[in-house]
This record gives sequence, structure tokens and C-alpha cells, in this order.
Amino acid sequence: MRNNFTFIIMGATGDLAQKKLFPALHGLIKMKKIGGEFNVVAVARKDLGNKDFMEIAKKNIKSPNEEAWKTLSERTHYFNMDFNDAEKFAALAALLDSLDAKSARHDRLFYLATLPAHFGPIAKNIKKCGLADAKNGWARVVFEKPFGDDRKSAKKLDKELLGVFGEDQIYRIDHYLGKELVQNIGVLRFANMLFTPLWNRAGIDHVQINILEDFGVGGRGEFYDATGALRDVAQNHLLQLLCLTAMEVPKDFSEKSIRDEKVKVLKSVRKIAKQDVVLGQYEGYEKEKGVKRGSKTETFCAFRVFVDNERWRGVPFYLRTGKNLGKKFASIYIQFKSPQHDILQNRDIKPNYLVVQIQPDDGMLIRINGKVPGEKMKIMPVKMTFCHECTFGPNTPEAYETLIVDAIDGSKEAFIRSDEIDASWKIIDQITKKKFPVNKYNTGSFGPNKAEELAKANGREWFNKIENVVQGL
Ligand code: BG6
Repeated sequence: MRNNFTFIIMGATGDLAQKKLFPALHGLIKMKKIGGEFNVVAVARKDLGNKDFMEIAKKNIKSPNEEAWKTLSERTHYFNMDFNDAEKFAALAALLDSLDAKSARHDRLFYLATLPAHFGPIAKNIKKCGLADAKNGWARVVFEKPFGDDRKSAKKLDKELLGVFGEDQIYRIDHYLGKELVQNIGVLRFANMLFTPLWNRAGIDHVQINILEDFGVGGRGEFYDATGALRDVAQNHLLQLLCLTAMEVPKDFSEKSIRDEKVKVLKSVRKIAKQDVVLGQYEGYEKEKGVKRGSKTETFCAFRVFVDNERWRGVPFYLRTGKNLGKKFASIYIQFKSPQHDILQNRDIKPNYLVVQIQPDDGMLIRINGKVPGEKMKIMPVKMTFCHECTFGPNTPEAYETLIVDAIDGSKEAFIRSDEIDASWKIIDQITKKKFPVNKYNTGSFGPNKAEELAKANGREWFNKIENVVQGL
């Protein structure tokens, strides 16, 4: 059980802290992964008392465990401040010192769950108050995405942060890397002889990486309108999934080896062709709260990339994400090449595919061809499945639970290095810096028609299914 640390959340009343971080802390206490002497300092601008704040936070916990909630409430200290107010930072430093007074170690994890515009000023003030220098322990800082809004701004931000913290103190988070099925990709690929020899252009026809959502921007209109699908999801989650799917075998599972291989994938992505990009915006988006009338922000993007190396030359990777679509799911779909034996002539053989279903119904599924009983060599596709919950039970840690524990433990495999961020922006800047048309689409559809055409142009089809991993139907 991890104890004797202080978890400082900057932006504690925001969406992320409320919807993800507090539920994760509650979950970690319940699972006894954290406990004993620890403190949570919840920092935000609103003028609230501890009790009011905890009441707000409790609303986001689905079924609060009484004991865990009591511990979290007792351990949380609400601190109200403006992030530009240097004097308040001194008061925050005094509060942290007083909380640590009785403890031999002063381990502090700062979590910046604020708008990115506050990253620089907060970092500078942390430095000014001496909070960046770890005395009798460590000081680490977790940054949420978006990390910059293009290559240039990300570089500038990185420079600012590295003027305050050492690289070893910086944790750039992408919560997709904390998802169990995402963490499973390496094991699937490298611990299964079944896939290793096929995982290349000889065995694979194409790959699709989909993160689709069936709801709109909700209360995040203002943030989203300044961000869009490319910066919100493609630059980070989609490209990270691409890296894990396409990377070469790392020397080991260490943070350096994994990140070295991921960045090579990003650097090998070929310049994206104009006809390989489709952007969209759902009907009615402009009427959402916080969205500018006449906004051209994309709520959908689909694009095709090629990883130009020996393993993947010629294999298209289709990446797609969007809001207000027909379904909510995240998966990696890998379609294998069709068998070419003479014995199969004139038979309609469907290609094998593998789906890594990240959510919902976490699991994996392989479609193979089987013989229909009683019929003379009639072949039909059948499925083999791995249902994560059926095998491991329902209490899989949430992504944020996993990543908070990793940050406390100082383990960085699932955090992003700045060269990965730079290489990802280099890819996304190619789209955002050009004026691509933004096509309207209906809520409940799978994006603009042009996205269908993008796949069809090469005889492919988008995979729009949530597989039943329990029965493999
Ligand atoms: C976040 C984006 O990073 O990821 C959101 O800002 C998106 O817009 C979310 O909804 C998706 O994450 P998940 O875990 O719900 O699939």
C-alpha cells in the first residue's frame, strides 16, 4: 500500500478531476492500493469549504464505499486560489509543509488538471516557492493533454517546463495507455507465436483504429471548440494506439525501450496525402453551449497513414474518431490477408480478422473460417473470443487508477516522452495547418459520406461493430 505522499490536484473542480481523478482516488483507497498517511490537496479557484467540495466530488462516485469515502474526505484539503497569484502559492507551500511536518518523507505529486494555458504559470510559481525541489522525497508533476496545440507551442511549453523540472520529474499522461486492453497489446504481439510471424505486410491487409463516441461535446463546448477532434483525440490516443500496434519488438518492457520504439513509428509515418483525410462536424454543433456560431472545428476525423518501414510498407492504417456517432466504442481492427490456395477456388472465403476491443466489453476476438457441419466443404466464418471480465473478474483497475499508481511508483512506461509528442504533432500539423473542408454529418451516423469513400476507395470498409466477446457471435 502506498502512503506518506501528498497528491496535489490543480483544477480540482474541473471535469477531469471530478469525473476521473476523485473516482480513481476513491477506487485506489477501496482496493487498498493507497492508504495510511497520505494527503490530497484539492486546488481550484472556486470559493468553497472542504465539506462543500467533498459533496460535489461525491456526486461523481457511482457507488461510494463508505469506509473509502470517509478516508478520502478526511485526507482531502480544499485550497482555493487563482493560479496567477504568487502569494497564494506561498500559502500553498506552507500548507504542504504543515501536512508533511510529522512525516519523514515529503513525496509530492502535482497533477495539473487545468486548462493548458495555466501549465506555464503554475510551473513557474511551483518553482518560485521551492516546491519543485524535492527535499526528503520526490516532487513529480503530471501534465494532462493537450500538450500544446501544435508542434511549435508544444516545444515552447516543453522548454518552459524543463526550465522548472527535470525530465525525470515530468509525467505526460495519455489515459489510453492506462487501459487494460491497451496494456495488453504488447503481450498479445510479443508473447504469442501465433501472431508474431504474421504481424507485418506479408500477413496483414490493413489496420483500423477507431475511437468513436455517441455523445456530443456536452458541457465542454468552449474547450472543444478551440481544440477539435484532431488535437483532442487523434494527436494523442489514436497515434499512441498506432505506435503500440506498429512498433518493432522493444529490447525489453522498460520505459526507454518502449518509448524508443514508439517514436520510431511516428517518425516513419509518410506525409499524409490530401485525399486521405476527411473531417466532419455534427449537425447542430454550432448551437452547443460555448461553441462559436459559424465554427469550423471538426468533431470527426478519419485519415489514412502509412508507416514507411520494412515491416509495414504498403499497409494502410485507418484512424478515425468523432463525437455524436452511431456507437461508442474503441478498438483496433486488424484484417489479415486472404488465403490464396488453389484448393479454395470459387469459394467465398472471408478474411481473418483480430479485434482488440478496448471498450466496451473489453476483450479480443479472432474471426477464422470453419466448416459447416454436414455440408461438403462449405466454409463459413466463426469466432474465437477472449472476454476480459469473464477471465479476470469485473474489478479491472480504471485507466486513471493504474496511471496514478504508476506516477507514485515512479514508473514511466505508460507516460509519453517529449520526442513522441513532437513527432505526433508533426503528423497532426500536416492536417491542422491546411484548410481541409469540414463536412456535416448527422448525429447517429458514422461521420460524413466522404469517410465511407475513404475506405471504399481501396475496397475496404469501416469496422463499425462492437463484438460480443462473451459468446463470439
Ligand atoms: C479525452 C478527450 O482525452 O478522451 C475526450 O478529451 C474523450 O473528448 C475522451 O471523450 C475519451 O476517453 P474514454 O476513456 O472515455 O474513451
